[in-house]
Amino acid sequence: MGMTDLTIKTGRLVLRPFEKADLDEVLSYYSLPDVQRYLDWKARDRTEAKSAFEAMRKQTRLSRPGDSLTLAVVRKADGKVVGHVSLRYMDATAAQAEIRFAVGPAFRRKGYGSEAVGAVISHGFAEHKFHRVFARTAGGNEASAQLLKGLGMRLEAHYREHALFQGEWDEELHFAILDREWQRGAKVSEISRHKVA
Ligand SMILES: CC(C)(COP(=O)(O)OP(=O)(O)OC[C@H]1O[C@@H](n2cnc3c(N)ncnc32)[C@H](O)[C@@H]1OP(=O)(O)O)[C@@H](O)C(=O)NCCC(=O)NCCS
Repeated sequence: MGMTDLTIKTGRLVLRPFEKADLDEVLSYYSLPDVQRYLDWKARDRTEAKSAFEAMRKQTRLSRPGDSLTLAVVRKADGKVVGHVSLRYMDATAAQAEIRFAVGPAFRRKGYGSEAVGAVISHGFAEHKFHRVFARTAGGNEASAQLLKGLGMRLEAHYREHALFQGEWDEELHFAILDREWQRGAKVSEISRHKVA
């Protein structure tokens, strides 16, 4: 059965579905507490992290609400997997999608997160015709808030003590941007699809 794989290229990065060989690089950041909070599959040990990775590997298309597209963020210069970005199709009628992302600690503060997230948002607006893309992040997560603001996303809500997270009151920020507000098309240098066996 043929399958279409997506590749997005930016200045310094290639975004593509995860491959089996990426496992160890993903495990090096997947279980960190600040990354775990934003993942669909919690991983307390290597076995759980491995099955979470296998599930992410299957997130390659956005056909219907509930689907996620998860792309590995690979540095062109040395082929290292620096993180991943996921776009989830949330609502068909209103064309809404949620974006989540993580960059391994060794690769942070180099602009890779912004470059990758910007490219995936552009892809969502251009290819999937989403009307609005939103992101949720913890109240104290300055890196994530800074990244989202830097991309032009608007802080739309700050939920105070809306939930308990590991026994502590949680704060959550919601950022969003509409298709007509997004002017980042130029960030993506190339989007391609190729047939794989
Ligand atoms: C959030 C995260 C992806 C940022 O990745 P990154 O590659 O370091 O981000 P960038 O280098 O593109 O930085 C984006 C902006 O945030 C700022 N920033 C990055 N880390 C920061 C920090 N720890 N404190 C304050 N600002 C920070 C950068 O200076 C930059 O701002 P600028 O454009 O004004 O210079 C990364 O810290 C991470 O994986 N965190 C854990 C998982 C997470 O929080 N995911 C978000 C879930 S939605």
